Amino acid sequence: MTTPLRLLITGCGGIAGAWLKPLAARQDARVVGLCDLDPARAQARNAEFTLGAETGSDLATMIDRLRPDVVIDLTIPDAHAEVACLALSKGCHVLAEKPLAASMADARRIQAAAQASGKTHAVMQNRRYLPQMLRFRDSLRGSIGNLAEVHADFFIGAHFGGFRDQMQDVLILDMAIHTFDQARFLTGLDPVAVNAIAWNPNGSWYRHGASALVVVEMAGGLRFTYRGSWCSEGGNTSWEASWRAIGTGGTAFWDGREAVRVEAIEPWKPGQFMATARPAIDAPPAPAMELQSHAGCIDEMLTAIRAGRQPQTCGADNIKSLAMVHAAIASADAGGARVKISALI
Ligand SMILES: NC(=O)c1ccc[n+]([C@@H]2O[C@H](COP(=O)([O-])OP(=O)(O)OC[C@H]3O[C@@H](n4cnc5c(N)ncnc54)[C@H](O)[C@@H]3O)[C@@H](O)[C@H]2O)c1
Repeated sequence: MTTPLRLLITGCGGIAGAWLKPLAARQDARVVGLCDLDPARAQARNAEFTLGAETGSDLATMIDRLRPDVVIDLTIPDAHAEVACLALSKGCHVLAEKPLAASMADARRIQAAAQASGKTHAVMQNRRYLPQMLRFRDSLRGSIGNLAEVHADFFIGAHFGGFRDQMQDVLILDMAIHTFDQARFLTGLDPVAVNAIAWNPNGSWYRHGASALVVVEMAGGLRFTYRGSWCSEGGNTSWEASWRAIGTGGTAFWDGREAVRVEAIEPWKPGQFMATARPAIDAPPAPAMELQSHAGCIDEMLTAIRAGRQPQTCGADNIKSLAMVHAAIASADAGGARVKISALI
């Protein structure tokens, strides 16, 4: 039996439940501390999961006293850099909620701190650990020829209250990071340049940027487009977005839920106006996954720390997804101008 990793969680708001449930079921990790600016929130989570952990509101003091192996950062995006740099400087690994940081400057600061400490910094990208997501990714390999375009729609009317209502660029920074990271995961390609426009639609209950259109040039010329709104009432898509991937030999669809469908064509013949469509087929079943979503990503990150390797969503990789976010924001600020990713990383 291995000695459990000692975990200190900071930020005990809404998303903490998605971490604490799978963590409470693990034998290889133990939550020894819960920190929040509002100590009552830390106490409430402690009681809810009967953790018997220490609670408090000052992270530095708690790290010094509890000597955790890992600090788990579930605070708001604006606080991620401060939390990560402090924890890394005190010799802890850091596992953080998305987005990696609220700005590229903060992201680079975190990267430098991780390099200096030799510790892991990794980010929660739970969409990578969904069976239907893997099923859709597998359906893009071979059955529709060479992938040329990927399109994602995200339309949800979410009334959160709290920090999101006041945030700058709320959709792109706090939500589209998921869909952008999914696009990298699905295509296996890195971003090259971004054009975007963003706006706050009439009737929005957010302060800024609840809707956006984004076009990303990926390596090799593939284009990824994103249409999204977080104040779209009725007709909501899945939180995982609704996808259409177009290849030289057909199109694959994922509704972001259970349905993954492939419509391939017979090879186009000269003189034909349109190629003959083959009957649409359901993609083969998803691979079995015991641990999904947050539980799956947590498992990968803790296993990697134990093995002394970098997890799939380590900061050094995730910064490329974050760069899509900040390139989109910079482009929108510049009226849709092309922003190169190389200018940001
Ligand atoms: N992966 C996902 O699917 C997913 C879903 C929801 C939220 N999130 C992310 O999780 C993070 C938190 O979101 P939430 O919905 O739980 O927000 P929340 O507002 O419900 O909770 C945030 C908590 O952090 C605390 N906090 C803020 N700054 C702090 C600091 N410096 N030190 C200690 N505590 C601090 C607040 O008091 C609050 O209790 C965000 O980065 C968000 O984008 C991810």
